[in-house]
Amino acid sequence: MQHLSIVPFSSGCGALIDNLQLATCTDTEVDLLRQASSEFGVLFFRNQVLPPHEHLRFGRRFGNVVVNKFFQHLTEYPEIAEVRKEKQQETNIGGGWHTDHSYDDIPAMGSILVARQVPSRGGATHFANLYAAYDDLSDGLKKVLHSLTAIHSNDHLYGESGYYAKTDLANQLQGQDSVSEATHPVVIVHPRSGRKALYVNPAHTIGITGWSQEESRALLNYLYEHAAQSKYTCQFNWETDSVALWDNRCTWHFAQNDYHGEARLMHRLTIEGTRLVGV
Ligand code: SIN
Repeated sequence: MQHLSIVPFSSGCGALIDNLQLATCTDTEVDLLRQASSEFGVLFFRNQVLPPHEHLRFGRRFGNVVVNKFFQHLTEYPEIAEVRKEKQQETNIGGGWHTDHSYDDIPAMGSILVARQVPSRGGATHFANLYAAYDDLSDGLKKVLHSLTAIHSNDHLYGESGYYAKTDLANQLQGQDSVSEATHPVVIVHPRSGRKALYVNPAHTIGITGWSQEESRALLNYLYEHAAQSKYTCQFNWETDSVALWDNRCTWHFAQNDYHGEARLMHRLTIEGTRLVGV
């Protein structure tokens, strides 16, 4: 792709770009990043000089920034959410496979995560490629999935009696009264690449429309086990000032919680998407 060095990160997922400073990139480079993120799912960058105002300026070049209802924000830059774990805390944010904001009617297009403080070891983020996971399903199952929609919610996570309310992150999260639910096709046609991708995720998808809980669980669990296979995933080990830019319509991610006794702080921007369309 032109002059950017885009090197596949693993056979399953992602690409590393090592010759670009995001704060000073050109409009052509932003277009290439947009295209590459929809192709590789996630792009990784090291040694970025991207203080919060540059993070925000860079994010806005991709579209409107969506403010996360639940996370704490930077006082000066409310569009930037903090993904924070203090050294005495046990729970982390985003510790299970998920897609950001799939519980919104118009889910986020992408997210840009900047590492501000990383533990001395651990704290990696894993990504999964939902194009590849879809492509490898049988034609028979694909056909069934094309006709289905699924319900996504955040109540069971962020609601008043949800998962986080029972953890040591409870005081750090907000918006317990602004939970939401949305329905999306189980397989979407990616709005930029035109490729088909699975669009269900273990954290937010609560059922298949019109199916019982048991039926939904059986199908969803099969799809989750399938998509989480290592051949579709990659693991990114953070350094301070590393950045990941991902496309939420074709990836999952989770933050590994294996650094107890140390703090980790990431700044996240989420970019507005478009309504998702099925096959
Ligand atoms: C997130 O789930 O968006 C945050 C991921 C991370 O902290 O690595």
